Amino acid sequence: MPGYIIVGMQWGDEGKGKIVDYLTQEAKVVVRFQGGNNAGHTVVVRGEETVLHLIPSGILHTDTQCIIGNGTVIDPAVLIEELDGLAEAGCEVDGRLGISEAAHVIMPYHKILDGAQERFRGANRIGTTGRGIGPAYADKADRLGIRIGDLLDAETFKRKLKSVLEYKNALLSKSFGEAELDFDSIVEEYQGYADRLRPFACDSVALTHGALQAGKRVVFEGAQGAMLDVDHGTFPYVTSSSTMAGGVFPGAGIGPRNVEAIIGIVKAYTTRVGEGPMPTELTDEVGEALRKHGHEFGATTGRPRRCGWLDVVQLRRAVMVNGMTHMVITKPDVLGVFETIQICTAYTVDGEKTETFPTSLARIESAQPLYEEMPGWNCDISGCRAWEEFPAEAQAYFKRLEELIGVPISIISVGPGREQTVVCVDPFN
Ligand code: GDP
Ligand code: IMO
Ligand code: MG
Repeated sequence: MPGYIIVGMQWGDEGKGKIVDYLTQEAKVVVRFQGGNNAGHTVVVRGEETVLHLIPSGILHTDTQCIIGNGTVIDPAVLIEELDGLAEAGCEVDGRLGISEAAHVIMPYHKILDGAQERFRGANRIGTTGRGIGPAYADKADRLGIRIGDLLDAETFKRKLKSVLEYKNALLSKSFGEAELDFDSIVEEYQGYADRLRPFACDSVALTHGALQAGKRVVFEGAQGAMLDVDHGTFPYVTSSSTMAGGVFPGAGIGPRNVEAIIGIVKAYTTRVGEGPMPTELTDEVGEALRKHGHEFGATTGRPRRCGWLDVVQLRRAVMVNGMTHMVITKPDVLGVFETIQICTAYTVDGEKTETFPTSLARIESAQPLYEEMPGWNCDISGCRAWEEFPAEAQAYFKRLEELIGVPISIISVGPGREQTVVCVDPFN
């Protein structure tokens, strides 16, 4: 059976975790293929909330195999904390969690450098999650990175760390005035992590292909979103990995022929955490209402998310670069508090109207949104479980989104809970 890619279409936090958990009811394997513990994916089952940063969001289905792929960057301490949390909650992962030996390890100097570089950037800071993600991916490209496989072999780990640490300590102390790190302390700390993670280490590519060949349905879980992609996002205000559907090929080691559908998650309004342009951002009471009713606070850092109306100009770009085949709408229930709803369908840039997302940062920053107004439904739709149960205004809104974005809606999520889900077209059929 083929693979199904689930990716965010905006600036992250679209509700990927909830949808991955929902779809995993009908899938046997879930693979994370990029990002690290900058991600925070929330799953709510029977009122119980679980936030996952590295472990795939299918883990709560006890017959599902979960794989952390080679394209990810892993902070071992965070992963172990997550394992402990799941064990405490009674979720057994032994024998069904695989961690790629080729995934890169986030080291103490990555986290310190993340903070130091942000301070150095000053007014131009990116607003990173401070988890060492950028410096870890930079070391991978620079071929200085340490992989999970290296961590597991004490001699290799020490040899690699020795040469890298000399370089990193010079950078930390001479460029940033930070204290140097002690080799022996890092070795001791990380060998403890190695002992804990060893049972999970695997060849994630072989495991994934084995599942595909055995006819199992495999879900690939993206982190972040289209506009945070290192190539196609609002560079430099992006993360350091390929958050596109296409990121699955290097990040999980599969080929295009293994993919059946690309399921894009679209939040019914826009949010963003950190710095960088967001044409529909609202700093007025409407933005405040979205934040309040949508509980828009970061699942990883707790930062308030910037909020605004849905941006179709941005979404059409995301559809293009992802090749989205199925659309999932999340959180329309939050819009139930408004008398009228706005959809951004074009921008004014340099005095001219455009429906195309600009490629230059300066033009995105100066873009003024042009809105189309629709009547709101002004009621609670979180109890709807079928298309017919939606008020006419909500149905009209969903139909208009399909028209404007150009991709059919597969699923409408009306609340954080697994059961708060309306399937319009089953993406697996
Ligand atoms: P992710 O990073 O894409 O997995 O999204 P997050 O978990 O960071 O943020 C989404 C938030 O919205 C979480 O608190 C979810 O529990 C919640 N959520 C997901 N889907 C819905 C929905 O349809 N309606 C509402 N009201 N909340 C939702
Ligand atoms: P999920 O998977 C929202 C943002 C950060 C910052 C930029 C770079 O939960 O949707 P980084 O630490 O990656 O170098 O930060 O990217 N960012 C996210 N925003 N959701 C995420 O993940 C994010 N992961 C990173 O806020 O602006
Ligand atoms: Mg999130």
